Amino acid sequence: MQPGGNLWEVSASALVPAGRGAERIASLFWWMTGGSLLVWLLVVGIALYAVYGRGGSQRSARRLIVWGGAVVPTVLLTVLLAFGLAAIPPLLAPPPVGSRTIHITGEQWWWRVRYPLPDGTSFELANELRLAVGEPVELLLESADVVHSLWIPALAGKMDLIPGRVTRLTLEPTRAGTFAGPCAEYCGDSHAFMELMVVVSAPQELQRWLERQAAPAVAPASPQAQAGQARFQSSGCGACHSVRGTSADGVVGPDLTHVGSRLRIAGGRLLNQVSSLQTWVARPQQLKPGAIMPGFHFLPEQELEVLAVYLGGLE
Ligand code: CUA
Repeated sequence: MQPGGNLWEVSASALVPAGRGAERIASLFWWMTGGSLLVWLLVVGIALYAVYGRGGSQRSARRLIVWGGAVVPTVLLTVLLAFGLAAIPPLLAPPPVGSRTIHITGEQWWWRVRYPLPDGTSFELANELRLAVGEPVELLLESADVVHSLWIPALAGKMDLIPGRVTRLTLEPTRAGTFAGPCAEYCGDSHAFMELMVVVSAPQELQRWLERQAAPAVAPASPQAQAGQARFQSSGCGACHSVRGTSADGVVGPDLTHVGSRLRIAGGRLLNQVSSLQTWVARPQQLKPGAIMPGFHFLPEQELEVLAVYLGGLE
């Protein structure tokens, strides 16, 4: 099974960081938790003393109130505040000059991902981001419709995608793995089915992936896949989707040039298998209410199957 095919291999934990930003946030979390635990223990201790203690003089009571009620909390909260504020600038800092830039546009309800290439061209894919261990990247985030928020808990903090603005997020993965990046801002009916899969691998592996993704689609080999391509063309799929190297050049929906190589489809809703592709093409509304993609359930099963075989073969 390919990575990310198994649900349990996909990490979405902010407390098991796999990126610089997430490491800072996790350490902040533990310091805050430790600090609040200390305050809680103090308060409980004083409460127990008040209930069971033998009492003391008026003076010692006043001292306890001044120290326990004002001095210690002020010092502790100031230290935690300073610690929290100090964590912000490195989280917002851009990556070193020359780092890769990747464009991500939030759409209802999927992530449009565009990789610019050194030669000035670029390629697009959907709901999947591939990075290399130790290579920082800058994400330029935009929205095509409403406010979305990208959150890859294992790699970094959240960043909103706001219509008419470009926001930035730096990612610096520190170990390989597959990480989930759900949309963290309610953005309509299928907000819950808008998940970015982030695959972090060795730099050489990323390089191979980039070369494959930049290449045009492979021509369908089997008669079934060829029939699927013909069905794809005659059904007008190319009005919304692009398959580079063919006449399909729509830009409304996800680019499908290498759709077969992705881990999931339908915004992370389904594992990428021929059977899921067939289900999705037939009844997208049932899986993602409100999706723009029209259902093709009126096609005979056999036609849907060849379509799915063709799409699955676009690796
Ligand atoms: Cu996009 Cu929630």
